[in-house]
Amino acid sequence: MKKISVIRKAHFNAAHRLHNPNWTDEKNKDVFGLCNNPNYHGHNYDLEVKVSGELDPETGYLIDMKLLKDIIKEKIELVFDHKNLNVEVPQFKNLNPTAENIAIVIYDILRKEIDEKYDIHIRLYETARNIVEYPY
Ligand code: NI
Repeated sequence: MKKISVIRKAHFNAAHRLHNPNWTDEKNKDVFGLCNNPNYHGHNYDLEVKVSGELDPETGYLIDMKLLKDIIKEKIELVFDHKNLNVEVPQFKNLNPTAENIAIVIYDILRKEIDEKYDIHIRLYETARNIVEYPY
């Protein structure tokens, strides 16, 4: 069996604020800087979802890319795009929406949707220069 990976790219714009409610305003500002702005701010997130596993010799596919595209569209883009993550996405009610935590939340959502015979890996670009991968 040939092991192979495919990658599907996606994009969403979202607002967030990084804040630890257990800390003083001063400490939050020191640690999170501009991302602590109480009025929120936005990022243009680029997402890459890598799916790995064994090539199906009958189709020549690893996974139907249309299926993968539809899962990412429905479960991630429609949920995250043009949203305030802190306020509108329940997973971040009590979880700081850092790029790291966003990548983990995306992984957890997709893990439930994609057949367990596949490994999945998330790469999230918060900016062109700041990139998170999960699992590492
Ligand atoms: Ni930010």
